This record gives sequence, C-alpha cells and structure tokens, in this order.
Amino acid sequence: MAVPRIENTLFGLAFMTLVLAGMLAGPCEGELERFEHPTKADGSLSFLVVGDWGRRGGYNQSAVAIQMGVVGEKLDIDFIVSTGDNFYDDGLTGIDDPAFDESFSKIYTADSLQKQWYSVLGNHDYRGDVLAQLNPILVKLDSRWLCLRSFILNADIVEFFFVDTTPFAEKYFTEPEDHVYDWRGVLPRKNYLSNLLKDVDLALRESRAKWKIVVGHHTIKSAGHHGNTDEVVTQLLPILEANGVDLYINGHDHCLQQISTSDSSIQFLTSGGGSKAWRGDISWLNPEELKFYYDGQGFMSVQMTETRVDIAFYDILGNILHKWGASKALYSIINENSHVY
Ligand SMILES: *[C@@H]1O[C@H](CO)[C@@H](O)[C@H](O)[C@H]1NC(C)=O
Repeated sequence: MAVPRIENTLFGLAFMTLVLAGMLAGPCEGELERFEHPTKADGSLSFLVVGDWGRRGGYNQSAVAIQMGVVGEKLDIDFIVSTGDNFYDDGLTGIDDPAFDESFSKIYTADSLQKQWYSVLGNHDYRGDVLAQLNPILVKLDSRWLCLRSFILNADIVEFFFVDTTPFAEKYFTEPEDHVYDWRGVLPRKNYLSNLLKDVDLALRESRAKWKIVVGHHTIKSAGHHGNTDEVVTQLLPILEANGVDLYINGHDHCLQQISTSDSSIQFLTSGGGSKAWRGDISWLNPEELKFYYDGQGFMSVQMTETRVDIAFYDILGNILHKWGASKALYSIINENSHVY
C-alpha cells in the first residue's frame, strides 16, 4: 500500500533530521566548559596573574605570595589566574599529595587572596598524576581551587580562553628524557589538538566580549630561556590573530616580560616569576619589541573596564617594575571581529 510507504518515508526523514540536528547542535564532546565571574558593581574587574610557583614557599615563593596579598588588597582583586607549573617538580602525586597544602593553601594566605583561582596545567604538572589537579575533590581541601585543561571564563567585559598548551610541544613526546608524562585524556594527540584548536577558534569567533584574553602555560613570544614555543606559534597564534585577541598571557619562562611586535595587535605577557627565577639567559633580536624583561621573581596585575586595560608587574618587594595600558573605544569599528550593538 502506498500510504504506509509514504508515512514510513516521512517518519524516516523526520527521524534523520532529528539525528542530524542533534549531531550539529548537541553538546559536542570537546566543547569547552564555561564559567562566569561577575564584574564589580561599577563594571570594572581586577585580578593578579602568577605562574610557575609551587615550591613549598622556596625560591622566594612566599615573598611573592606576601606581595600578592598586599597588591591584591590595594586593587580589590576579583580573582587570581595561574599560568601553570602549579606544583614542582612533578605536579601532584595524587589528590592526597601534601604539596597541595604546602605549596598552595599554606602559602597564599592573605585575606585578599581568598578568591577564586583559575589555573591551567604546565608541563611539570603533566609529570605527576595529571588527573589529581583536575579533580574537583580538591575544592573540598581548598575552595579557591579550579584547574581545567582548557576552559572559558566569561566576566562580562572580558572573556578568557584558557588553553592547555603542553600537548602542543612535540619534544615532551619525542624526547621525554628521564621524565614520565601522564598523557591520560590527551591521546591520540592529533585528535586532542585538532579538537582543541577547533573549540578555541569557535569560542573566539562567537565571543561578544569587548576584550579577549587567552591564557596558556607556554610562551608564544619570549626572550627567556625557553624562547618561543614553535608549535603554539604555528598552530594557535593564527587563530588568536584572526579573532582579535587582545592579550596572550603565559608562564613557562620564569620571568616577567612584555613583547609587542608590529605584525601583531596582541600583547604577549609572561608572568612566570612565582618562585625559582634568575636563569640569566635573555635573547630577543629586536629591542623595540621587548618592552620589558625582568629575570627575577614577581607577578602581574590587570585592571580593566569596558574601555581600558592597565597592567603592572611587581617584584618581591612590591615595587612596580613596569606598567602598560591601552584603551578601546566604546563602539569599536577598527576590528572586523568586534561586535557593535
Ligand atoms: C630572592 O629575591 C631576591 C631579591 O630579588 C634575590 O636577590 C634573591 O636571589 C632571590 N632568591 C632566590 C633563591 O632566587
């Protein structure tokens, strides 16, 4: 009979449409987790950035922490960003590793630092039980802790894109030396990286925030010991350039620095001075681009409004070593990726 056949076909088509719609619109496997952080009542936001820190207070970690407390109070900070290498030398051994308490909870004790921390993983964190730092159970030990591989933080005037950069670096896979990396959740690496790049690209393209900040552990442009991270330069940087990112903030090199190049509108900021520093090897060909470099310990502050960003770098005595700021018109038409409402 003809009628049931048509019904079957229609049902089949409707079913296929539902399946396809589900595949296209449903939560993709790799989609980045999103968090929200409100601005202050006046619409402004301030936060500190520290990286490469967890050494049980050693190598001036405690001195940096004390000044973070002082500056955090003064700027009335909303949260803290960690650029990774949270626990030395080999991440956490598990969720019960006392290093979590000894290198984090017992170090950053100032009132002003009792705020949310947003952290990424560094290469040293991958040398331990990588899942431990990502385990939400740590929140029960210290409610400030939040560490994910890659995620998005929306703070109204600014959107942050935290990117897991360690898996980009080929050498950890091909020349691990005597280190053992915990690649659970990363393999197969090719898929992991292509999904991550796709997710970051899509999230950046869809972002309506006035400012876009990308945070990763590894350098894109650095005059420090490690220099530029080639794989991140070739694979991630073009996506950041294409989507009008304002700041790229990283650690990895144990220093404080700012690089601005004429071929990019992104400011490259390193805050990796949370503990061991003074490596002593600095090289950048163009002194015009290297706006600031400090080989010692310290941290960075960021203050933002809808139209203005101001950063500062501090040493372990709280001295301001360097300042930089920029403004953006309320309705920007300069950048094709800006949204005008
Ligand atoms: C601690 O900081 C001071 C002042 O910058 C510096 O002279 C000293 O070498 C640092 N100590 C270590 C172990 O890096």
